[in-house]
Amino acid sequence: MAFTLSPIGRIETPWATPAECPRNGRQAQPAPLCRVVMEAEYLPGLEGVEGFSHLLLLYWMHRAGVARLNFTPPFDTRRRGVFATRAPFRPNPIGLSVVAFEGFEAPGVLRVRYLDCVDGTPLLDIKPYLPSTDAEPGASMGWLAPHATPRQD
Ligand SMILES: C[S@@+](CC[C@H](N)C(=O)[O-])C[C@H]1O[C@@H](n2cnc3c(N)ncnc32)[C@H](O)[C@@H]1O
Repeated sequence: MAFTLSPIGRIETPWATPAECPRNGRQAQPAPLCRVVMEAEYLPGLEGVEGFSHLLLLYWMHRAGVARLNFTPPFDTRRRGVFATRAPFRPNPIGLSVVAFEGFEAPGVLRVRYLDCVDGTPLLDIKPYLPSTDAEPGASMGWLAPHATPRQD
C-alpha cells in the first residue's frame, strides 16, 4: 500500500540546511520565531486554532536522504534502531514538533517557536496539543535520558 501526501503549507525557519538546525526545538535559546505559511485552500481549516497555546506540527523532512535502520547517533557510542531515535533519515521522514503558538501574523500565517527544521520544510498537518491527553509527565526516555535538553520555559 502506498500513500500520496500533499503539503498543506510550508515552514519558514532561520536555518537553510539540516546542519544549521538545532537538534531539537528547545535546544536553541532563545528559541527563534518561525512561521507556518498555509496554502490558501486550507485556511478554513484554521478556524478555532486561535485558542490553543501549543500545536503539534507534522512535516516532511524533505532533505533527509536515504533511510538508515541502524546507526550510532553522533552523541552516543552504541548502535540504535531508527525507531528508537528522532533522526530525520527514516523510512517515512515525518517530523513532529510541539510548538508554542503566538498567534496569526496574517491570515494563514502562524507565528510559532520551538522548531528544529529547515527553512521551506513542507507541512503535512497541524493538530492542537492537548495537555490532558498528550502530556505524560512520568514518561521515561530510554537510552536518550542522559541527553535530555533542559527545559527553559
Ligand atoms: C533530530 S530531527 C527531529 C525532528 C522532529 N522534531 C522530530 O522529532 O520528529 C531534527 C534534525 O533534523 C534535520 N532536519 C530538519 N529539517 C529537515 C528537513 N526538512 N530535511 C532533512 N533533515 C531535516 C536537522 O538536522 C535537525 O537538527
